[in-house]
Parts: sequence; structure tokens; C-alpha cells
Amino acid sequence: MTTVPRGDDPPVEHSNFALEAKQFPPRNAKLEYSSPPAARPMAKTAIVSGARADGPLVLGIETSCDETGVGIVRGRELLADEVASSMDQHARFGGVVPEVASRAHLEAMVPVLEGAFAKAGVRPSDIDAVAVTAGPGLAGALMVGVAAAKAYAYALGKPIYGVNHLAAHVAVDQLEHGPLPAPCMALLVSGGHSSLLLVPDVTGEVRPLGATIDDAAGEAYDKVARVLGMPFPGGPPIDRAAREGAPDAIRFPRAKLHDGTFDFSFAGLKTAVARWVEARQDAGEPVPVADVAASFQEAVADVLTRKAVAACREYGVTDLVIGGGVAANSRLRALAAARCESAGIRLRVPRPGLCTDNGAMVAALGASVVAAGRPPSTLALPADSSLPITEVLVP
Ligand code: KG4
Ligand code: ZN
Repeated sequence: MTTVPRGDDPPVEHSNFALEAKQFPPRNAKLEYSSPPAARPMAKTAIVSGARADGPLVLGIETSCDETGVGIVRGRELLADEVASSMDQHARFGGVVPEVASRAHLEAMVPVLEGAFAKAGVRPSDIDAVAVTAGPGLAGALMVGVAAAKAYAYALGKPIYGVNHLAAHVAVDQLEHGPLPAPCMALLVSGGHSSLLLVPDVTGEVRPLGATIDDAAGEAYDKVARVLGMPFPGGPPIDRAAREGAPDAIRFPRAKLHDGTFDFSFAGLKTAVARWVEARQDAGEPVPVADVAASFQEAVADVLTRKAVAACREYGVTDLVIGGGVAANSRLRALAAARCESAGIRLRVPRPGLCTDNGAMVAALGASVVAAGRPPSTLALPADSSLPITEVLVP
């Protein structure tokens, strides 16, 4: 922690560190806040649209998978979004290796934090609160971020907010498109999750409507890419190859499309692609990679967008947010745009860099949570690898 300017910060009680479930800020310390930051009156600047220049200055730390992300936001204004990825170290294994990810977070954490403060042009002592992904994610990886957040919060005497990774994927859209309408619908699609969420209030009430019952959408991309001899992660190369192929060349299955639920299933699709490719190879025929990629991609995008639009209709919701790494997919974006337009739904998709895991999303949710006056977490805040989406903020 030698990089943290201590300035006027109060002396810390090292003997208590990490042992007590104590509320921030310490009650007897002379700190910037004697109550949760939301008690501070917020400036009355009119919100026109998009980001605003005022609001709480929040540091966000994300380490749930292979990205060490540190973001700094002021209200809904993004000041810094620094990310170090350990993806290169996992690529040869064809998937993220948890222990490798944890070690990489440890090495990257301080440089990424320093980079974010330098980029934002603020000092650690300037921030109002620290937000961190408490779950869901890889247990060891989460622990590195949570420990770093606790260290910063404790040393700086600032409140800490342990937040839900999935809710952060939704909240990040506010940095680009302004306040989230209440309620909104969220489709989160990444390597680890595929969920449809009804979001009455991203700071406190998120209702899961459906999720994948087997592989996540991104996982299916990664596995199909392997079948096609493409590198990991598989989303980008499949997306590129699909541009040269015909989406209707092969009719791959669309599981659970008409089952009346908002759940997904992609394991059967992945197997169908593998069997189709094997059959061509066994017959000694060339595999039309671009057609396979385009047809697979069409099946994924078709199911995701149909179910998302159906959920909006059923719940009378007029705004759909799409997030997660697969939201970078060009066909998903195009099909969602077309189907939302015909259904009268406003579509909000953050730019690709904000869709994949990053610290800005955690800072964005943290700033919303602070502004909503939610109580901070305690120092006993655990990393919870299977944190349910209904728990936006961990006490
Ligand atoms: O959100 P993310 O960065 O990490 C988590 O899994 O939480 O998402 C990574 C996933 C990978 O499975 C990757 O293949 C997929 O997002 N992905 C894509 C594209 N870019 C990344 N999938 C389809 N099309 C893309 N362009
Ligand atoms: Zn994610």
C-alpha cells in the first residue's frame, strides 16, 4: 500500500484489520463521511442525458474471471477504465484456469489501480467509496479483488460496497446512455452466464426470469470455435468467419424456443455443430467453416433475441439492455436492433469494451448504489462465488 497517499487520512487500527465485521467508516474516526455517502446532498444540476459531471467519485474493482479491471466514475461520468487480461495465459488450455487467473490478478492489481488513478487524474484520497465485485465468479479470483478493495477502503477510511457482477453488467450502460429506465429488461450473455433479468431497480431489485440450463452462450461460442479449429476465446473469430457465410446454410436446433420459459440451452446446439462437422470430415468432404459459423451464430442470436423481446412484451417493459462479452457479437446486435424496433422496444447496448468484464461497470453500479443511499458493506464482506442475482449488494 505504499502507493496510497495517506495525506490527512486518520490513523488506522491495524489490530482490528479483517478480524471484525465492522461498518465503514469506523465510528470514532474523523472521516470525510460519518454516515453513508448518500446522506450527502447531491448537486442539483439538471440531468439532460448521458453522463453528468457530479455525483459520488467511486473506485470500482472487478476480478471475477480473467480480467483485472479498475474503473473510476463520478456519478455517471467515466473517468478511467483500466483492464489487464490474463487471457493469453489461458488460451492454450482452451478455457480460463482459475488458479492462473488468481495469480495474474495479484500481479496486475496494483499497476492497474495506479494506472486508473493516473488516467482519472484523481488521488486515492479523493474517492468517496470503493465498490468491488463480491460475486458471482471464480472464488480465488474474487478474493483478490475483495481483499484489495478492503485494503484501499480501510487505509483511506472510505465505505466499501460489495456488489453483484451481473447487476454491474446492467448498470454500466448508464455511463453511455444515461439513467436506466425503471423497470428495464436485461439480457446478459457472456462466457459464464446467460440470463434474462427484470430490473425494477438496479441498486436493489433484480428479478431473474430465466437463465441457461447448461452452457452459457459464450461458452457455446468457445466450444464451437474449438471444433472449427479457431482460437480461444471463440466469439470474435466466429463472428469474423460468419461474415463470409450464409446464416441459413444449415438449420441448427433452437432449443427451448417455444417452451414458454425464459430459460436457454446451448449444449445441444454445440453438440449438433460438432456432429455436423464430424459427419463432413468422416465423409472426406471439406467443412464450410464460414457457413457453419454463420448458421451457428444465427441460431444463438435468434433464440436470445426472441426470448428477450418476448420477456419485454410479457412484462410490459419498453427498454432492453444487452451486456456481457457476447453482446459484442455483430449478428446479435443487428438482430436485436431489428426485432426491438418492430416491437417498439428501445435497445441499449454499451460499446463492446464496456460489455466485457471491466472495473467501470463495478464503479458505475457503486455510484448508483451510493446515490440511492444504500448502506455500505462491512469489512466482513465475503467473496461469494455463487452470489444470487437477487443480492445486488452484499451486507
Ligand atoms: O463478459 P466476458 O468478457 O467474460 C465473462 O465470461 O464473464 O465474456 C467473454 C465471452 C467469451 O465466451 C467470448 O467468446 C465471448 O464473450 N465473445 C463473443 C464475442 N466477443 C467475445 N461472442 C460472440 N461474438 C463476439 N464478437
Ligand atoms: Zn461478466
